[in-house]
Amino acid sequence: MSSKDPLLSKKHRNKRKYSTDDVETGEVGSYEDEDDGEYGTLFKIIPYLSTFLIGMGTLYFFTVFLPEYFIPESTDLVGIPHISELDVILKPITSTRALDLKSGKNVDLDENENDDDDDGDDDTPSKAVERLILIGDIHGHYTQFRKLLSTINYNKKNDHLIVLGDFITKGSDSFKVLEYLIANEIDCILGNHEYYVLQNYATFHRLEEPHFTGNRTQFSIKEDFNSDADYLLAKKLEPHHVQYINQCSVIKKLGDVPVHKPKNNGSPYSAPGIAVHAGIRWDLPLDEQDPIDNLEMRSLLGPYFNETTPDPEEEDAISWSKIYNLKQKEKDDNDEPTMVVYYGHDARRGLNLKQYTKGLDSGCDKGDQLSAILIWKEIHTSKKGKKHILFKEEAVSVNC
Ligand SMILES: *[C@@H]1O[C@H](CO)[C@@H](O)[C@H](O)[C@H]1NC(C)=O
Ligand SMILES: *[C@@H]1O[C@H](CO)[C@@H](O)[C@H](O)[C@H]1NC(C)=O
Repeated sequence: MSSKDPLLSKKHRNKRKYSTDDVETGEVGSYEDEDDGEYGTLFKIIPYLSTFLIGMGTLYFFTVFLPEYFIPESTDLVGIPHISELDVILKPITSTRALDLKSGKNVDLDENENDDDDDGDDDTPSKAVERLILIGDIHGHYTQFRKLLSTINYNKKNDHLIVLGDFITKGSDSFKVLEYLIANEIDCILGNHEYYVLQNYATFHRLEEPHFTGNRTQFSIKEDFNSDADYLLAKKLEPHHVQYINQCSVIKKLGDVPVHKPKNNGSPYSAPGIAVHAGIRWDLPLDEQDPIDNLEMRSLLGPYFNETTPDPEEEDAISWSKIYNLKQKEKDDNDEPTMVVYYGHDARRGLNLKQYTKGLDSGCDKGDQLSAILIWKEIHTSKKGKKHILFKEEAVSVNC
């Protein structure tokens, strides 16, 4: 307390005097006689002073202490990985096993089972699973998400699950979805809404803008990201939520996935697959793609189709997946390598399974459906006893 303030120092002096032995000897009156004028004024001021101090304290409590108390501490943002690689392989399984996995029947969840089923490969990657599962835009619809997981009998030990971005925002249970993803160490792709939430988080906590890491020399920054809903969500994020979202990459290489016409049930052919939230440009290698395009694009603009737009209604705009499939077929005809893309983001076009592109946003947030695609390798034995592998996939949806 400032001793320079005459009022306060007087008050202080006053208190000190009353606490001396004089008080006990009943000689309080002598002070009034001694100093009547000065203390009289002071006694009149004390109520105002106390009110003022209590007021300041209350003000501090509600405007500084309380908000600080409810704002989670912040954590710094690290570079968002542009491209990452899945460190998981698919163990070939029988068709019976595939059915059992889906129905949940006869699935022994004993810890040792994975080891017994190993193909004898000594240098297998960190994780070998039976199914790779990708799920489209969940948008905070936790109940529907859990319903889908139980429909496909998701099991952490047999399956590797990747959510394709936009798993939070819009729906009411973003935090429940986040906590579930974190607790079950579920893999993720960054969506445009996760990116906006990170931008809002950086603004709110006065951190550096989120940025991307990768081989591209220039990364664009999106300016007009503000939406109240994303900001409100960003304010409530705790460090472990942010750290989870921040490690989701924009593109993930999946290894070999089936290549087949949508109507075929499995294929002996495979190609490298990737997961991305919105899409990719057909005319650029992965590490030259603009991550903002990868997060937001829906269509390409003619006549060259080398420019993206998030707005499918724009003039000369054609769905990126349509162009991409045409170009991949040309490549296949020329015996050039092809690539399959699993994506979300395009609720308007819904579940959209083509030969080289698999659109999995079936509009759960609009009350339509939430979809997953299951990918596995199936061992078949011919009549002559020869074994071959079929690459299989199946889309499963639940109503929202
Ligand atoms: C980046 O470039 C280097 C050298 O050109 C290459 O070895 C590396 O694989 C690239 N990384 C990515 C993520 O594309
Ligand atoms: C698209 O291609 C045309 C013709 O090759 C070229 O003039 C234009 O600069 C390209 N645009 C972009 C954004 O790459």
